Amino acid sequence: MIQLGISAFYHDSAACIVLDGKVIAAAEEERFTEKKHDHSFPVNAIAYVLSEAGIQDINEVNEVCWYEDPKVKKNRVLKTFNKRFFKTFRNRCRYLYSYYFNSPKTLLRKHFKYTGKVTHTGHHLSHAAFSYLTSPYKNAAILTVDGVGEWETITISKGSNDKIEKLLSIDFPNSLGMLYSTVTAYLGFKPNEGEYKVMGLAPFGDPKIYYDKLNSIFSHTSKKFTIDQKYFTWEYSDKVMYKYLFAELLQLLPRLPEEPIKQEHKDLAAALQRIYEDKFERLLKTAKNLVKSPNIVLGGGCAYNGVANVLGYKYFKSVYIPYAPSDAGSAIGACLYNYKGERKDNSNPYLGPEYSNDEVSFLLSQFSDKINVKKLPEEQLFIQTAKLLNEQNIIAWFQGRMEFGARALGNRSILASPRDASMRDKLNMVIKKREGFRPFAPSVTAETASKWFNINQSVPYMNIVVKAFDEDGFARFTKFPAATHVDGTCRVQTVNKHQNIKYYLLLKEIGKLSGAEVVLNTSFNLKDQTITRTPNQALKRFLESDIDFLVINNMLISKK
Ligand SMILES: [Fe+2]
Repeated sequence: MIQLGISAFYHDSAACIVLDGKVIAAAEEERFTEKKHDHSFPVNAIAYVLSEAGIQDINEVNEVCWYEDPKVKKNRVLKTFNKRFFKTFRNRCRYLYSYYFNSPKTLLRKHFKYTGKVTHTGHHLSHAAFSYLTSPYKNAAILTVDGVGEWETITISKGSNDKIEKLLSIDFPNSLGMLYSTVTAYLGFKPNEGEYKVMGLAPFGDPKIYYDKLNSIFSHTSKKFTIDQKYFTWEYSDKVMYKYLFAELLQLLPRLPEEPIKQEHKDLAAALQRIYEDKFERLLKTAKNLVKSPNIVLGGGCAYNGVANVLGYKYFKSVYIPYAPSDAGSAIGACLYNYKGERKDNSNPYLGPEYSNDEVSFLLSQFSDKINVKKLPEEQLFIQTAKLLNEQNIIAWFQGRMEFGARALGNRSILASPRDASMRDKLNMVIKKREGFRPFAPSVTAETASKWFNINQSVPYMNIVVKAFDEDGFARFTKFPAATHVDGTCRVQTVNKHQNIKYYLLLKEIGKLSGAEVVLNTSFNLKDQTITRTPNQALKRFLESDIDFLVINNMLISKK
């Protein structure tokens, strides 16, 4: 059974191939087009996953699984537009044109000459399926939160013996995801992209200043909420998301992107994050009441909010968040939902392209005037890299298959020592050229994680934020200051040898030299770039930045 999964047209387009229930390959379109969060039809990603799976003729695919239901979505879009017929006339024409002329079936025929079966799985059902069916649980509560799917913005379901039963949903326009994106835009960041920045800014502010004002837009029933739409344009505009009334409510003007970030902006970020956490906690309580399970899985783009995710442990013994909880992962979710055979282990996030030593050597030989290359036996590679990191060098680490999902998990990463606070500033200002308040994250061997961090479960995909602790239970701000946020928290990645043997062995060597099997890990990209896919990109980015060393496979590369 060959399935081709696709998600597109909203956020993070992606494609995957699933063979008899096992994901063989998956990639986001942005990695090929170098357009961040590219939401166009993923022609490049589809071509890649087909070739990776050795499928020469796309019509060998048994079914294409599309991650949402276009007909139900059309129903929502038109019903919403009908509320303001004239105001939405242009958007309606544009939408209907693309509905009829750029449907999944039409595009598959146009780009790939595919004429076979296409299935549609609900947007939140695809999120839920990806989270639950890649989790280690047979039984779990499933909570999905995002901007909007067809109608749904939040769902709670029960996962039991590989079946998913929806128990509750909250519909558009009542959307926590859209509120987060709206305030992100209000604070002068790009919505659907700058949410991380707002989350990073929140600990610098006082949530009390704007909390009541923001909370006043909510009305609650026992399990659900509504959001007063008089402040927002979500139902008729896809550009500005708020009205002037919102500024009046907050008694604060929107920040322009080039304006300095002031204390009131930090306070608004703090209030938004606190509101999100409070509403999220209500949903967790509801999920706990509706599904009697010790486990919960989280899905939807909002499951990248690692600060809120950790609240899951207040109500559940075990929490799982997959490697690509936003729409990219739904390409896989739609396939796994439609696959009727036995569930396979799909916990591996390394699903993208890899490059052989021969390919890399050939590329490097063309740059011999600019670089020195040392080929090292594997053991020496880890020893040498650990030594260079210990000497405060910044190293770009390129190994094996590219990660699927927003995080670099040790195959396309920039690594540095977390022990010196100035390293954070150097990385932010010189390499990544981004806002100085944004934190970096640590990777740690799974078996030593609880020694340094308040953590009792493995978090292989870096999507839970926890406190850094020492053995006596005090926050250890000084041990890893470059990878600890201002409030003493870290977005930790635990690594074990089954998940990523090379990265694990490197951490072991780092531990021998520094006393802690911990390294700072940030994605291998420079300002506004997508994560590195190819050795060619890796070399170019290395040469145009202040990264000290580049490691590709077993080759240690320095500048001449
Ligand atoms: Fe979504």
